[in-house]
Amino acid sequence: MILSRRIRATDAPPIPAARAWAARYDGRAGPALDLTQAVPGYPPPPALLAKLAEAAGSAASAGYGPIAGDAALREALAADASAFYRAAIPASAVAITAGCNLAFAMAMQVLAAEGEAVLVPTPWYFNHHMALTMQGVRTIPVPTRPEDGFVPDPARIAALLAEHKPRAVVLVTPNNPTGAIYPEAVIEQVAAACRTHGALLVLDETYRDFLPEDRIPPHRLFMDADWGEGLLHLYSFSKAYCVPGHRVGAVIAGPAVMTELEKAFDTFQICPPRPPQAALAWAIPTLAEWRDGNRALMAARAAFFRQAVSQLPGWRLDAIGTYFAFLRLPESAPDAMRAAEILAAEQGLMTLPGPFFGPGQDRHLRLAFANAEEPVLAQVPARLGAFT
Ligand SMILES: Cc1ncc(COP(=O)(O)O)c(C=O)c1O
Repeated sequence: MILSRRIRATDAPPIPAARAWAARYDGRAGPALDLTQAVPGYPPPPALLAKLAEAAGSAASAGYGPIAGDAALREALAADASAFYRAAIPASAVAITAGCNLAFAMAMQVLAAEGEAVLVPTPWYFNHHMALTMQGVRTIPVPTRPEDGFVPDPARIAALLAEHKPRAVVLVTPNNPTGAIYPEAVIEQVAAACRTHGALLVLDETYRDFLPEDRIPPHRLFMDADWGEGLLHLYSFSKAYCVPGHRVGAVIAGPAVMTELEKAFDTFQICPPRPPQAALAWAIPTLAEWRDGNRALMAARAAFFRQAVSQLPGWRLDAIGTYFAFLRLPESAPDAMRAAEILAAEQGLMTLPGPFFGPGQDRHLRLAFANAEEPVLAQVPARLGAFT
C-alpha cells in the first residue's frame, strides 16, 4: 500500500503515545495521574449543559448552516472580542470553525503552498507542526530560551523573515506548552516585522480568557484600522467554556483573507456544528462572570502547583502559566522521552516529553496542571521524586 509521503512524514499523535506507556503501570504509587492533555478540570455549568441538550434536540440544529457559522454566534463573539481587545471588530470578520485546530489547518491552506515556509517558535504546539507537515509546508523553528521566559526575540524573527521569506509567523500566547504570556511589545514588534516582509501574523489566543486582568488587552493590534491586512487571529471555545468535545473554534480575519478562507470552510467543514453554536451564542454574554471566575481558579491552581514542585530537589520549574508547567529534568534523569516513559510506566504519572514540542526540548516535560484538582496535584511531587 502506498500512502501519501506527507502524511507519513507527519508525527504520530503524542497524547495516545504518552498514555500508552501508562498501560504498563501496576498501581504501586497510587492511582494513575493524567497530566497530558489541556482539558479544563471542571465541567461546564449546568445551564450550559441544558442549552446544549436543548439545541441538540431541535430540528433546526439538525440541518446544515451557514459556511462561516451562525450569525448569532459570530455577532456574540465579535462583541466579546471587541470588548476584550478594546476595538471595533465586526461580525463579518469573525468565522466559526469546528475547533481551533481545524481553524489553523484551514488558515494554512489559505496562506501557504507546498514547499513554502512558516515560522513557529519552539517549543511549539505539536498539532501546528503536524498540520504544516501534512500540507507539505516547512516549519522553521524559532528557538526560545528559558532565561527569556520562552518569549521569542522579535529581532531574530525579523532576521528569519528576511532569510526564509515565510508566508506566516505563528505565535501562541498564552503559550502551549510553556504557559508564557508574550509581552504586548513583542507581539506588536513581530506584527510589524511580518508586515515589512509580507508575511501574515497568525495569533492563536486559545487561552486568552485565562490571562491575568492586568494583561488585558494583551495587544493593540485590533485597534489598527487596517489590522486585517496583517493579522489572522485564532480562538477556541474548548477551554473557556469547557466544551472541547463539541468542537467549536473561531477565526478573526480581514476581508481579503476571509474570502479565501470561505473556500476552505466549505470544503473542510461545510458548516461548524450547529447545536453548540446556539448554546455558545447564549453563553458568551450570560456566563461572563463564570468565565472570569475560572481565571482566578486557574491562577490559584498554578500557584498551588508552583509551590508543590518548587520544593523538589533537582527539578527546575522553567515556566508556568495558564494551563501548563514546563519542567526541566534533574541532571541525573534520563532524557525527556525516556523520563516520561518511566514516570508513566513506573509512577503512574502521565506527562508529555519535550521532544513532542519540537527540536531542542530533550530536558523538559509538559504537565497540564489545569485538568487536575489540588488533591491530585498534591501527589505529583512524590511521583516526580523518582528522579531527584
Ligand atoms: C494553542 C492551542 N490551539 C488550539 C487548540 C485546540 O483547540 P480546539 O479544541 O478548539 O481545536 C489547543 C488545544 O490544546 C491549543 O493548546
